[in-house]
Amino acid sequence: MANPPKAGNFDEKPPMNVEEYDKFIRLFCGAYEEMFKLTHCYLRAILPKQAKILVAGVGTGMEILEFAPLNAGWSFCGVDPSADMLVLAGKKISEKNLAGEIELRKGHVSDLREEESFDAATCILVMHFLKDDGSKLELLESICKRIKPGAPFVLIDGFGEPGSMDFEEIKVAWKNYPIISGVPSETVENVFNEVIMKTVQFVPESRIMQLLETAGFTRVSKYFSGFLYGGWMGYKK
Ligand SMILES: C[S@@+](CC[C@H](N)C(=O)[O-])C[C@H]1O[C@@H](n2cnc3c(N)ncnc32)[C@H](O)[C@@H]1O
Repeated sequence: MANPPKAGNFDEKPPMNVEEYDKFIRLFCGAYEEMFKLTHCYLRAILPKQAKILVAGVGTGMEILEFAPLNAGWSFCGVDPSADMLVLAGKKISEKNLAGEIELRKGHVSDLREEESFDAATCILVMHFLKDDGSKLELLESICKRIKPGAPFVLIDGFGEPGSMDFEEIKVAWKNYPIISGVPSETVENVFNEVIMKTVQFVPESRIMQLLETAGFTRVSKYFSGFLYGGWMGYKK
């Protein structure tokens, strides 16, 4: 795509104060740290000691901070259109003095050279900011084109059908996550109405499966679920 979608660009229209992203996400996204640990376990089970990983939408660097310390032979290319998020990622990565090859690139996955060079890819809490107007598919396709046949791909994304009974019931439970951590309920209502429900482009899980299949992934299975987001692992055909 010549002009990748700007939705979800944390520089131009951040859904929250970028400096506060790390605090915000831990309060509002249930099991945020655990989802990275689970993903880490799966990737360690699949990947060899030397592997090149594409991190699509690396944000403030959580994937690299979780995976790099225990896997010295893994190298990372973290891509993100947000310079502000990348500054925070770079700072944390250098503070931790992480060994190994770590590259942070400002831009979209489609800006990377189109060759099957990566051994794995992740796309965590990114695709749900894109509309299902071809933009979600374009992101998945651009990732698929850059990993080797048979390489694993991890997607963690929001899913569900707003307005359906299931969705609305789960949303009530989800709101309790920040509330029991001490966030005032008026703030939580405001974040859900003005941020989450306005920025996250939820689609049913069946649509996520269809998008993954169309983009070129197979053997997709769900390995994580928390409120209205899930984690799926698939392989490039
Ligand atoms: C909620 S953050 C997630 C960051 C990190 N993966 C995490 O889980 O903490 C979403 C990130 O996706 C980036 N983003 C938005 N659209 C993107 C796109 N089309 N390609 C790659 N990254 C994108 C944003 O700039 C932002 O840094």
